[in-house]
Amino acid sequence: MTRIFLLSLIPYLSFANPDPGEAAYQTNCIACHQLDFTSVGPSLVNIAKVYPKEKKAEFIQWAIKPGKKNPLLIEMPSMAHMGEENLAHIHDYLLKVTKGVKHKKGKDQFQPVPEPKRDLPYVRYAFLPESSPASFAIIYEGETSACWDTEACRLRYLWKSGQTRLVTHRDVYDLPAPPFHIETSPVFWSFAAGKRPRYHGFNLIQRQPEFHYQIADVEIRELVIWKPASKTLLRRFKITNPPASFQIHLAKQGAGTFSTDKGTLDSSTLSLHAEQAREFTITLSFP
Ligand code: HEC
Repeated sequence: MTRIFLLSLIPYLSFANPDPGEAAYQTNCIACHQLDFTSVGPSLVNIAKVYPKEKKAEFIQWAIKPGKKNPLLIEMPSMAHMGEENLAHIHDYLLKVTKGVKHKKGKDQFQPVPEPKRDLPYVRYAFLPESSPASFAIIYEGETSACWDTEACRLRYLWKSGQTRLVTHRDVYDLPAPPFHIETSPVFWSFAAGKRPRYHGFNLIQRQPEFHYQIADVEIRELVIWKPASKTLLRRFKITNPPASFQIHLAKQGAGTFSTDKGTLDSSTLSLHAEQAREFTITLSFP
């Protein structure tokens, strides 16, 4: 747990913003929690009423293992991967920003959210079509964005847009055009069939997200980089405890071409053995 916690701390510290609570809130909570009105979840003002200063531990507990209170709202995804210290920072931050602020009754939902200034790429939870409610939008340079689903633990698709204000209301964000790349294989990792992946969080390597997840006892790190100049998507995988040999099913829709630095690529199936799986890169190039 400690190691995961340290990893999940890195992105929040590496933000230029001096308030780690604000940075962590903007990445992980803002898609569902606004300052003074109910959006997908309750406002920060209402959360601060239920969880004042002396209820920090209960606040952290909820975020790690959310319950179900309001039948009109969806179930909140667990934020356990963030670690207690980040959640504590968010609690400090929300107590600070809600001071003297009143919840706006009757102004719930459909409120435009002011867009914070951001350096690209950046990662945030967003409601995206054809993905689970616990999905990240990765907004890259070069008007390109990716959807990475933390429930299925896989890349879903890429679309053309540098739009950063993804969630302005509780509806799913409308992509401006259909995705130009969609991963279509029902199972990505051959050893994942019938198994539920466990998401452990992400850290940023030169601002690029590296996702960390686990399928049974196989641990996977997946760094997803978009290179705008060459229109290529690089996915660097590092695998701990892989099976002796396995396949990755790369079936897709879209004009991109796959290549790899390890293993054998046969149409849309990449075969690897354990030694090669320690670290390898799958490249997807677009015309
Ligand atoms: C995908 C949407 C979503 C995200 C992301 C999300 N939440 Fe929530 N959250 C909800 C919903 C929906 C509820 C209300 C659940 C209910 O009442 O049943 C909620 C409720 C809460 C509550 C109130 C619990 C109570 O006892 O009333 C807290 C505290 C909270 N969230 C903290 C957080 C924090 C901290 C983050 C970010 C680290 C976060 N949430 C991210 C959807 C989300």
